[in-house]
Amino acid sequence: MTKTVRVAVTGAAGQVTYGMLARLASGEVFGPETQVILQLLEIPKDPSRQGLQAMDILEGVVMELDDCSFPTLKDVVITDDPMKAFDGANFALLVGSFPRKQGMERKDLLDINGKIFVGQGKALAARAAKDVRVVVVGNPCNTNCLVAYNNAKGIPAEQWSALTRLDHNRARTALAKKAGVPNADVTRMTIWGNHSNTQYPDFTNAKINGKPATEAITDRAWLEGTFVPMIQKRGAAVIEKRGSSSAMSAANGTIDHVKGLVTATPADDWVSMAVVSKGEYGVPVGMVFGYPCKTDGKGNYTVVEGLSLDAFGKGKFDATLKELTEERESVKALLG
Ligand code: NAD
Ligand code: LMR
Repeated sequence: MTKTVRVAVTGAAGQVTYGMLARLASGEVFGPETQVILQLLEIPKDPSRQGLQAMDILEGVVMELDDCSFPTLKDVVITDDPMKAFDGANFALLVGSFPRKQGMERKDLLDINGKIFVGQGKALAARAAKDVRVVVVGNPCNTNCLVAYNNAKGIPAEQWSALTRLDHNRARTALAKKAGVPNADVTRMTIWGNHSNTQYPDFTNAKINGKPATEAITDRAWLEGTFVPMIQKRGAAVIEKRGSSSAMSAANGTIDHVKGLVTATPADDWVSMAVVSKGEYGVPVGMVFGYPCKTDGKGNYTVVEGLSLDAFGKGKFDATLKELTEERESVKALLG
């Protein structure tokens, strides 16, 4: 065992995190030679409230982590203090925030959740390791990432990202099912823009068995009229069926995203991540926008440039850019 990685996770007693912790601790993500220290943040206990609270639940989660007896898990710290949770963190997975309930859109969450990310951005800047990679999962994740990044002076833009990998995975599976091929045969999926119902799951640049997806699936009406809205609204569809927002698949998407950062992207593929724009594809600099990205396995990514979009795709791209512009405007006061 040569290396140690400190992984801070917020919202540590929540549903998404519950699906992630064992996988982070087990060696699946960082490998069998790396020792993991989990630094878990939850909200403080409210002494005026009866019954189980997040901190109590978190203690139970830690008992379960102990009972897994992972050789790669060196230590688990639980705290309600962001400064302690982010201390020396090499990865910070910001899951903690309030999930969308039935009938709510992500925009409804901006007010509730935006403020959390001001404080966490400042605490990250004060305490995280220089090489920290921050991944924002809590919704609305693009704009929460924007808020945290703008409040974390000194942590470079390249070290921030937000989760569009769940949408990416959803889109791959949907195309694979339609084409009657294994999921792995679908590559070069891109989720453009916002993790919301304006995102554009781009079937035009995707490949199936190395050929354009539109050659394997020639039903353009299905691609435009069924596939795109299905992926855009998949989160809401899961909420309707489960009564609560996706957790297992969100945890899996987050694990895939982190694995994507610590493992180089295969030459013939790319991953979807929302990252701080440098102006690629005409997006305003500084906006947290979903792009196709390639990673080097050392936590660094580059946006895949030079892709073209047809008129349909351009319309969708513009719609998601417009939504993110509005979201950015509505959190202007929080941008430090
Ligand atoms: P949950 O309610 O089960 O858990 C959220 C946890 O966050 C709670 O335990 C809560 O106490 C904690 N929390 C709230 N504020 C906090 C703070 N300031 N610091 C630390 N912890 C805090 O919700 P969940 O189902 O686990 O979802 C978590 C978030 O992930 C939600 O915002 C949800 O919308 C989002 N999500 C994102 C994606 C995606 O693809 N980006 C997918 C699914 C869920
Ligand atoms: C999802 O995509 O499943 C989550 O972001 C939950 C939601 O609010 O849609």
